[in-house]
Amino acid sequence: MKIIKSSKDLNHIIKHLKKEGKQIGFVPTMGYLHTGHVSLIRRARAENDVVVVSIFVNPIQFGPKEDFKNYPRDLNHDKRFLAPERVNYLFLPSKSSIYPKGFRNYLEPGLMACRLCGAKRPGHFRGVVTVVNRLFEIIEPDRAYFGQKDYQQVKVIEDMVQQRHLNVRIQVCPIVREKDGLAMSSRNRYLSKKERIRARSLYQSLVEAKKKIQAGQTNPSKVKNLIKAMLNRYVDKIDYIELMDPEKLTPAKQLKLPVLIALACFVGRTRLIDNLVVKR
Ligand code: PAJ
Repeated sequence: MKIIKSSKDLNHIIKHLKKEGKQIGFVPTMGYLHTGHVSLIRRARAENDVVVVSIFVNPIQFGPKEDFKNYPRDLNHDKRFLAPERVNYLFLPSKSSIYPKGFRNYLEPGLMACRLCGAKRPGHFRGVVTVVNRLFEIIEPDRAYFGQKDYQQVKVIEDMVQQRHLNVRIQVCPIVREKDGLAMSSRNRYLSKKERIRARSLYQSLVEAKKKIQAGQTNPSKVKNLIKAMLNRYVDKIDYIELMDPEKLTPAKQLKLPVLIALACFVGRTRLIDNLVVKR
């Protein structure tokens, strides 16, 4: 695994590889890697000649009161996760190589960014599409890998790729969970022991809601209330509970399958998200 810090150097290497006909798979991350990230890397490894992983804690996707400063950063931890995975290039850009002085090329996300985290975290998806587009410019991937854990992020990026006619396939990978169901996340590291136990309630409430829907409940308010009652016992604040059309990300008035159930809550000061698609 070669570590590259300069955007220019990496783009030069990639151009060369592409001339040789190599297929490039790309996994963008913000580091503090876990098995969820590794699942994306393994899929990229299986489908491409060359695998590039980036670690960049993107300042512009964090709000002023969010955790940019405290976001976990530990390159040795990350290298241990990457060592067995046959990654070809680890891209560790500096802030200035992603956002050169005077950078103005901000992108605006489309309608997919209106609700859920987009409504609760103003500017977040603007930061995400801007950095992902910039990384795509540098890496020119044939395929890029994203996790369904960040369901709305996938939709926002797919829309960006379509609008800009980018020549990259977005490959979506399932959510990797801990044994008790908690979705893996770099932010789980913030949880105290007690908070970690309470954090199980996100997935548990999704599973209960799914059962209710499969048993024939078609009223979204009733399903939301069930989730709310469960979560209120364990979490400190509910940011949102939404039932949505999984393609359009618009609220489901009368429940039809498939339906996306998406949650965001604070456990202590840690904001956690999770989701589940109830299929036909
Ligand atoms: P980060 O949170 O590091 O996640 C990187 C990728 O790993 C994302 O596509 C995310 O959905 C996926 N991922 C995280 N946890 C997962 C899990 N438990 N199971 C499966 N996949 C999981 O998402 C970002 O970084 C950033 O917004 C980024 C796209 C890198 C842009 O800055």
